[in-house]
Amino acid sequence: MSSGKYIAFEGLEGCGKSTHAKRLATRLDAVITREPGGTAIGSILRNILVDPANTALSPRTEALLMSADRAQHIAELIGPALASGRHVVSDRSVYSSLAYQGYGREQDLDELKRLNDWAIGGLWPDLVIYIDVPIEILLERLKRRELDRFEREDRSFFERISAGFMMMAANDPQHWMIVDGTPNKDDLEKLIADGLHKRLAI
Ligand code: TMP
Repeated sequence: MSSGKYIAFEGLEGCGKSTHAKRLATRLDAVITREPGGTAIGSILRNILVDPANTALSPRTEALLMSADRAQHIAELIGPALASGRHVVSDRSVYSSLAYQGYGREQDLDELKRLNDWAIGGLWPDLVIYIDVPIEILLERLKRRELDRFEREDRSFFERISAGFMMMAANDPQHWMIVDGTPNKDDLEKLIADGLHKRLAI
C-alpha cells in the first residue's frame, strides 16, 4: 500500500490553524491530530507544558517534553497512519519546536534539529502550511482568551517566532506553503485546498 502524505499546519496562536487543519482533514478524509497532545501520553505532557502554574519549567525541559510528545506521536499515531496509506493533517509539528524553542526561547537550532530528528526518526512533514496573520491581530484575539503558559509571553517572543517561521519557509520553499490568513474562512479553505492540490496532487 502506498504511503499517505504528512501535512502540518503552523502559525502563531490564534491564526486559525486548528480550524483549517480540521477542514482540510475532512476534505481529504485524513487523520486529524495535533502537537503537543495527539496521544494519551502526549495529553499528559501537554498539560504540563501549557499550565501557567509551571513557571519553573526550564527551556531545555520544555524542549525535551515537546520532543517526547512528538516521539510518542510519530511512533503511535502518525507513522502507522501513513504506513497504512492514510493522509495525516497535524495542527503543529517539529517546526513549532524550531520556531518556539529555537527562535522563541533562543535554544541552539542545530541541537534542537538533531534532538527532534532523533525523536521523529527522520519522519518530517511532506508539506507545511503556514497561516500568516499580522501579530497585532493575533494579540487582539488573545485578549479574548484565557491564556496558557506560552500565550502569556511578551510581544518580542512572538516576533522572534514569526521571524523564525518566515526564515525556515524562505530557506525551504519546497516544503512550505505560506497562506495569507486574513481572508474569510471559506475563501481560505479553498486557497489551502487548491495550493495543496498543486503541491502534492491530492
Ligand atoms: P497550541 O495552542 O497551538 O495547541 O499549542 C500549544 C503551545 O505550545 C503553543 O503556544 C505553541 C507551543 N509549542 C511549542 O512551543 N513547541 C512545540 O514544538 C509545539 C508543538 C508547540
